[in-house]
Amino acid sequence: MRVGEVAAGDVDAVQELIESDPGYTERITGYPPGAADAQSLLMMRPEGLAEEAKVVLGVWDGDQLVAVVDLLRGYPNAHTGFIGLLEVHGGHQGKGVGRTAYELTEQYVGENWPEIRTLRLAVVDTNAGQATRFWVRQGFEATGEVKPYRYDKVESVARLYEKQLS
Ligand SMILES: CC(C)(COP(=O)(O)OP(=O)(O)OC[C@H]1O[C@@H](n2cnc3c(N)ncnc32)[C@H](O)[C@@H]1OP(=O)(O)O)[C@@H](O)C(=O)NCCC(=O)NCCS
Repeated sequence: MRVGEVAAGDVDAVQELIESDPGYTERITGYPPGAADAQSLLMMRPEGLAEEAKVVLGVWDGDQLVAVVDLLRGYPNAHTGFIGLLEVHGGHQGKGVGRTAYELTEQYVGENWPEIRTLRLAVVDTNAGQATRFWVRQGFEATGEVKPYRYDKVESVARLYEKQLS
């Protein structure tokens, strides 16, 4: 498997990956995936964060996109990287792809973003059954911070997790 930054020309492969696991989008938004979800994933970033501080990594097995990772550099502070999403193609889950995608992400951060000492992410309670054990297995710990999460009809909370990089 190889990792690389997803380019604008990969948008159809990203959309296909998102549509391959409609359950994730439904747990987070209350709706099935929409036609512009890949475009949004590639563009959306927190207000005030520079365009070059966001990268979406793709993990490829041959010419199949098997995972995407939405990554922010220096958010919410200079020494922290934020994982907005790590999603494995629905047809490739449960086979170690998520773990490999995370390891390649850590490697990317170590090689390209030397000031980043901590990786941080949020798990929404409606998706906790899928994500919490996965992240704990990758070495993340709950910080104890809990933030309200709301997306249209989905009212929940997001729990923050962090991992210190060695
Ligand atoms: C969560 C997700 C990334 C896991 O990817 P995956 O390729 O299926 O996971 P892997 O096969 O690499 O499993 C790695 C470890 O996590 C555990 N794990 C993965 N999914 C799990 C689940 N749904 N429930 C419990 N444990 C799970 C595995 O048992 C494995 O543990 P082990 O190290 O003890 O063997 C994938 O299910 C996914 O893309 N889900 C939808 C998007 C999502 O929820 N992303 C996380 C929020 S940002």
